[in-house]
Amino acid sequence: MAPTACAPLPAQPVPPPVPPHEPHLPSLAAYHALYARSIADPSAFWRDIADEFTWHSKSNFDPAAGPVHVSFLPDRRTNVAYNALDRWISAGHGARVAFYAEGNEPGRRRVVTYADLADSVARMGNVLRARGVRKGDVVVLYMPMVPELPAAMLACARIGAVHSVVFGGFSSEALAGRIVDSKANVVVVTEAIGRGKKQIQLKAIADRALEIAEAAGHRVEHQIVTKVPGAESVSDEACMVAGRDVDWDEAVREADAECEVEWVESEHPLFVLYTSGSTGKPKGVVHSTGGYMVYAATTFKYTFDYHEGDVFFSTSDCGWITGHSYVTYGPLLNGATQVLYEGVPNYPTPARLWEICEHYGVNQLYTAPTVIRALKGAAPPPQARDGKAEALRVLGTVGEPINPEAWMWYYEVVGARRCAIVDTWWQTETGGHAMTPLPIPGLQMKPGCAMMPFFGIQAALLNGDGAEVEGEGEGLLVIKSGWPAALRTVYGDHGRMEEAYFGRFPGYYMTGDGARRDADGHYWLTGRVDDILNVSGHRIGTAEVESALVLHHAVAEAAVVSVGHAVKGESLYAFVSLMGGVEASGDLRAEIRACVRNEIGAFAAPDAVHWAPALPKTRSGKIMRRILRKIAAGGARTRREDLGDTSTLTDPSVVDALLDTFGK
Ligand code: WTA
Repeated sequence: MAPTACAPLPAQPVPPPVPPHEPHLPSLAAYHALYARSIADPSAFWRDIADEFTWHSKSNFDPAAGPVHVSFLPDRRTNVAYNALDRWISAGHGARVAFYAEGNEPGRRRVVTYADLADSVARMGNVLRARGVRKGDVVVLYMPMVPELPAAMLACARIGAVHSVVFGGFSSEALAGRIVDSKANVVVVTEAIGRGKKQIQLKAIADRALEIAEAAGHRVEHQIVTKVPGAESVSDEACMVAGRDVDWDEAVREADAECEVEWVESEHPLFVLYTSGSTGKPKGVVHSTGGYMVYAATTFKYTFDYHEGDVFFSTSDCGWITGHSYVTYGPLLNGATQVLYEGVPNYPTPARLWEICEHYGVNQLYTAPTVIRALKGAAPPPQARDGKAEALRVLGTVGEPINPEAWMWYYEVVGARRCAIVDTWWQTETGGHAMTPLPIPGLQMKPGCAMMPFFGIQAALLNGDGAEVEGEGEGLLVIKSGWPAALRTVYGDHGRMEEAYFGRFPGYYMTGDGARRDADGHYWLTGRVDDILNVSGHRIGTAEVESALVLHHAVAEAAVVSVGHAVKGESLYAFVSLMGGVEASGDLRAEIRACVRNEIGAFAAPDAVHWAPALPKTRSGKIMRRILRKIAAGGARTRREDLGDTSTLTDPSVVDALLDTFGK
């Protein structure tokens, strides 16, 4: 993939989007004025926005305590589910569509209004309460993209419970690890789900996870099982474990439709979301209630310039942060209508995504560069055929740097040169967009550039010594102000949070990304500076994959690096050293890859397994990944002189052995 940092500007100046109504940010000057206020007086800035929500008791945002101890209106109490649903219903909008739910199979559609959603949430809240779930308890959700998933998330929020959504692509082992770490007593699971041509038996995976958790000493008391209309399940009634498993439909039908709101302190945790770090074990990132609520809602409003009546469509799964902030929370907190799609963008044909946009008249589309690259060339979007993007106004991307070619196709073909492209840079930890171009009329967009900080975000670049880089330059991207949706802690390990994000340069939140600031002061993300990879927009830690590889009895040691991939952005390349006496073979390679699928999930299985007689190490025993990256990228044509200085290796001949083992 071309480095985004030196992406050229488009040959033609990009014309501004044409908004049908007064945009939330009518000019760049309006952005600058609001941004300046958000930095000069963050308390007043966020308090004014917060006052649009429902709270009990009042206080101020106090950013003075610094990034590690951000607290947002700590004396107030609120409830996110109330603000996302009841607030709209009380204002007379119960009949408004919350979700156009589009099934995996074309034509299978459901419409869920705000009133419908509120009813499911209230009943589900009672089902959870009846199973002993109380304020602060963690509930694990292992579900696909059907309306029951946001409903379950909001049901937790309504009763003050903390949800932890686990992406449906994670394996039993990975799910069990998250259940044990979060000590969840209740799991909500969907029986089976169709994703493209595949049927995935989620309940069977979850059943196994509960066994693994039990063997590790943690027993889940209740499993609530939902069904997706149309998904074929191999399990049946007999698979329901008496006393533990509960049928969602039955339980929800029988539950009371009135569910008392639990008004929680603004700093009360809303959810835990496990994400990859640079060490082996995933981190449970904890977000708070009030600050997260206000930030998710505000970023949604401004980044997508959402107006009443618009139809928003994010292709992200609620198993990742994007689905939390820009499916469940940001849109519903704005009373938005959105499309919720269960399947994959290219099933049954590569035109599916465009058909969905056309059918619902989508105004804002939010997806990942990997999806854009996969669809590019496969099927022209309908608006390209007609020469106009009827409804689309804002096109968003997220998850990884977008290469300029993909950006231009998104802009020219999908958006017919009429849409604003918002390349949103942010992280699980930031809770919402931290840096993004905003759809401001007249803004000169730059392909592949995340451009400017969102309100309240003070970005800076540090050099390796921790000094701030001034003006044009490159460095480690940090945030030096507190912002409302900053992660509050790592579940069960606050020390790990302080160490990972604030340890190296105290006073700065370390993003783990590198960036370049151009002469206009705009930021270009250059990729992670640590051992975290982005494969098809999925965040994966190399250490996590390595730990999975060495679980195989034949593997002595493993090192995983990334190589550029035309569609996935990055792909995983594993160097594996076998135990003495073990013969390498195709079967063994398949077994080793299966080991990663079992431990983490199919999306983390390395594309390449390179049998390494030994790994290149420094005298202090550190694996020299720089060399491995070059070998993986160069392939069989790599020459020794391409590898740079190898003199610090304990045994430089290891490199020759690695170059000799290509294709073996
Ligand atoms: C990367 C996803 C470049 C980045 C919301 C970050 C991006 C990591 C962009 C977080 C973007 C996300 N341009 N890189 N627009 N968006 N990233 O936690 O490396 O799954 O640190 O959150 O994705 O991934 P996460």
